[in-house]
Amino acid sequence: MDHFLYRDGELYAEDVPVAEIAAAVGTPFYVYSTATLERHFRLFDEALEGIDHLVCYAMKAASNQAILKTLARLGAGMDVVSGGEYARAIAAGVPGDRIVFSGVGKTRDEMRAALTGGIRQFNVESEPEMAALNEVALELGTRAPITVRVNPDVDAKTHAKIATGKSENKFGIPIARARDVYAQAAAMPGLEVIGIDVHIGSQLTDLEPFRLAYRKVAELTETLRAEGHDIRRLDLGGGLGIPYARGNEAPPLPVEYGKMIKEELGHLGCEIEIEPGRLVAGNAGLMVSRVIYVKSGEDREFLILDGAMNDLIRPAMYDAHHDIVPVVEPQAGAEQRPYDVVGPVCESGDTFAKGRNLPVLNAGDLVAFRSAGAYGAVMSSEYNTRPLIPEVLVHGHQFAVIRARPSFDEMINRDTIPEWL
Ligand code: LLP
Repeated sequence: MDHFLYRDGELYAEDVPVAEIAAAVGTPFYVYSTATLERHFRLFDEALEGIDHLVCYAMKAASNQAILKTLARLGAGMDVVSGGEYARAIAAGVPGDRIVFSGVGKTRDEMRAALTGGIRQFNVESEPEMAALNEVALELGTRAPITVRVNPDVDAKTHAKIATGKSENKFGIPIARARDVYAQAAAMPGLEVIGIDVHIGSQLTDLEPFRLAYRKVAELTETLRAEGHDIRRLDLGGGLGIPYARGNEAPPLPVEYGKMIKEELGHLGCEIEIEPGRLVAGNAGLMVSRVIYVKSGEDREFLILDGAMNDLIRPAMYDAHHDIVPVVEPQAGAEQRPYDVVGPVCESGDTFAKGRNLPVLNAGDLVAFRSAGAYGAVMSSEYNTRPLIPEVLVHGHQFAVIRARPSFDEMINRDTIPEWL
């Protein structure tokens, strides 16, 4: 459920007409709903009620500080994957002891920054990373709390580009080598081994792959405990999928996911962390765009929008489906036509949808891409020297620009010209 509904014939973001925001900030833009963000975070938090837990929002999904603050004030932790994300979480007021650091390629500088600024734990992904972290921690005269990310060799049954838990993927250490790696970690004085981490992929629409992976983590917990490791925290990653095509998809709900976690891992007495990103932010955001032209091709009609692949890359990159809806509510039984929905960027890949049935649209009409809150704004670029589009946060009747559209001068002046030119 989200808070983008038609009311009085037009699309609203909570209590604000989307067209009003478009008039104020221009198109294209992203708009997020506070109530939806809060609701989705709480669904996870409540799903784990009864066990010691922390929901660490995977901020790579949508990392505007206003979004982070909205979640942090509900008690969210953050999962960060770079020094930049760490700095952003701290800037948004998230305490270090609620930040977990994931990622296969943490640099020593990133480790230093997190150890100095405060960190809940590092999710370590390889032996060389472990050795580097040990050295950095000793240099700083401290011990780094760690889990080791294990790769359970489970098929997440999702798009190949976002599956991470198969042995061919670059993530984690093979679970078969875990005992050896934990023994090495325990011998490093700069590390404090506290748990196990696993993350098998994103946009999972079935609980079974999670269940298989978590069962392996439960077995490993007992094995490692028997070998003397104090395994007290399990980080179970993110990955629960969302319905991108409304009406045709019904992925499992957070409450079902939470129940499964309790079934598989509840008996271990560990603190549980999860790192959802997409399910928190995905359906909490729209990308709103305006039709520039309706162009007739040989055998099809193109809807040319002012938004493009640089603003929302998911269709071009993963063949992702996003529902597209007109901002003016279509009349019941209104005529529909198949459109190829495209942007102005000079690539054929700049196509959002092919042959999509939509109510008849004209130049100047506004359309909204649903489920664009996660991996939307954060993956955008300035390709074709198109400014990063604004982000807007709605809260009841209020809305605020939480990232402004840069001017052409601001963009161009970031270049510096060497003196010989
Ligand atoms: N934890 C780790 C270690 C991750 O790598 C990820 C996502 C998450 C948590 C959050 O997963 P989520 O709950 O959002 O599925 N750009 C792609 C998705 C990439 C996901 C990368 N890792 C897309 O637009 O579909």
